[in-house]
Amino acid sequence: DMGGHDTYMHKEIHEQADAVDRALRGRIDDRFSTVHLGGLNLDARDARAVRRVKILGCGTSYHAGQIGAQMIEELARIPADAEPASEFRYRNPVVDPDTLYIAVSQSGETYDVLAAVQELKRKGARVLGLVNVVGSAIARETDGGIYVHAGPEVCVVSTKCFTNMVVSFGLLALHLGRTRDLSVADGKRIIAGLRKLPEQIAEILANEGEIEKLAGEYADAKSMMFIGRVRGYPVAREASLKLKEVSYIHAEAYPASELKHGPLALIEPAMPTVAIVPNDDLLEKNRAALEEIKARSGRILAVAHQVQEKADHTIVVPKNEDELDPILMGIPLQLLAYYTAKAMGRDIDKPRNLAKSVTVE
Ligand code: M6R
Repeated sequence: DMGGHDTYMHKEIHEQADAVDRALRGRIDDRFSTVHLGGLNLDARDARAVRRVKILGCGTSYHAGQIGAQMIEELARIPADAEPASEFRYRNPVVDPDTLYIAVSQSGETYDVLAAVQELKRKGARVLGLVNVVGSAIARETDGGIYVHAGPEVCVVSTKCFTNMVVSFGLLALHLGRTRDLSVADGKRIIAGLRKLPEQIAEILANEGEIEKLAGEYADAKSMMFIGRVRGYPVAREASLKLKEVSYIHAEAYPASELKHGPLALIEPAMPTVAIVPNDDLLEKNRAALEEIKARSGRILAVAHQVQEKADHTIVVPKNEDELDPILMGIPLQLLAYYTAKAMGRDIDKPRNLAKSVTVE
């Protein structure tokens, strides 16, 4: 039942405020400025013993993991990184007992992720799951984990589940941080930020009409560039994947800092750039990248916390805490992908050549 929406993608994009609310419900502990994650199976002693975090997933779930790794580094100061599960499996990885492995998956059935989990377990590693589907294979095979509670996601293209994965990583990062050196004040600050998310998501979605118009402006592009830095980079990668999947427009994502090392050669009016420009300590650096693109007659659509003068258009999103901004900045770009695909008459819920869960190698 699509409840009045024309596609599941549109419905699921609009379910995000409620979905995030569900991910937070019952988990926040104001007294100790932390969160409780029931199924984690990791006591305070285990949490303090973690020396490194390795996150494994595929596609959108891998991108959620990249944001998650940054959150864990920032809030818990544990070295963390994300890698496609498929790559990890095939390179005979060093499995380290002091590393906490986290498998991320909407379906909980993705073969490459499941095989990575099984391999890790054979080698004696501790593996947690960050999964949407309750009781799925990955949920069963892991030692504990977090259900992201996005609710059923039908569209092949993941939207609300991505958002809830990133929120769940925020909860985990806060939890790990508070068992280590994260201050009570920072704990409170992050909790306040998390609580603001549902309302801010609703605010972004209320702006849908403007994004629909913008999709019309850019639907003629043969190819699009997505750029961001640090927190904005995985957001750019995910937005680029979204556009490719539903509209079949070619898109690339680069760190803004890498432009001058090659991709700047592609910039011309027919190759618009979507730039993620948060108001954080990299704002001036991001603005410099916009200038470089403008100087080559590139069209720019910025997603930012304030109007960017160098951009042709800016989608202004509400500001949260710096660490949580990536959760919000991708949401208008889900709508951009949706409206672009719609204008092109694409089969939005079932893009060609793709399946909802990839249970084969
Ligand atoms: O079910 P999973 O999260 O394990 O699926 C992983 C990817 O196949 C999935 O995210 C894919 O990239 C989606 N089509 C993204 O929209």
